[in-house]
Amino acid sequence: MMASVLPSASYDKARDRLQVYFDRTAVEQWKAITSDVPVSRIRATVRAGRDQMRETLLTWLPRDMQGLRLLDAGCGTGALAVEAARRGATVVAVDVSAQLVDVARDRAPGGLSIDWRVGDMLSAELGHFDHVVAMDSLIHYKADDMIAAVLALRARTSRSVLFTFAPSSAPLELMHAVGKIFPRKDRAPAIEPVREARLRLALGDGRTQRISSGFYKSQALEVAGA
Ligand SMILES: C[S@@+](CC[C@H](N)C(=O)[O-])C[C@H]1O[C@@H](n2cnc3c(N)ncnc32)[C@H](O)[C@@H]1O
Repeated sequence: MMASVLPSASYDKARDRLQVYFDRTAVEQWKAITSDVPVSRIRATVRAGRDQMRETLLTWLPRDMQGLRLLDAGCGTGALAVEAARRGATVVAVDVSAQLVDVARDRAPGGLSIDWRVGDMLSAELGHFDHVVAMDSLIHYKADDMIAAVLALRARTSRSVLFTFAPSSAPLELMHAVGKIFPRKDRAPAIEPVREARLRLALGDGRTQRISSGFYKSQALEVAGA
């Protein structure tokens, strides 16, 4: 695997756990939710929320992306990478899960400029970009690691870094605390709620949009490039 540039043991640990989770435990589930096969009512609300989030992020990118390089950081099954490439962007789409990158590659229509990679989104080997999008791929990292990751991405981005986080709220913080008291062995990696004010202090002001659809609660934030 490509090495990350972030010197944090907790970042590496979270990434390695996510790799195992998305590569083994959740691959079929994730394939289903990112397709149009029927899913449970709860998952359908998550799917609708995620579609809305992707649309929001795409409206923050130029309509014409000819000549622009975009990194889909934590691309999963690749829906955003495909949309950016359809706008003419030269896309690098990276994910730690080789299984999901295979699904993404198989699903993508031909003729688009997408370089699919397996590895860490912070790898310097990926190069420099005009835009980076990390949709729901940093939500499992501790706030300090999320901030450090966004800053590392920003250092090699000229226009904007768009990412999402789980906005902190009292009920979410409580659920989180209870989850830590009663850990289950094989459950999904916990989402780390973050306060918007903390992110703004570290990363500056930019557009933001909160999406809430059933169990899906996520907020997008735009950070200006370096
Ligand atoms: C919730 S999924 C979202 C996938 C995609 N962005 C989407 O919205 O459909 C999070 C993805 O981020 C990937 N991921 C997490 N940390 C990563 C890292 N450090 N480098 C690359 N991929 C990462 C996971 O493997 C997973 O596929």
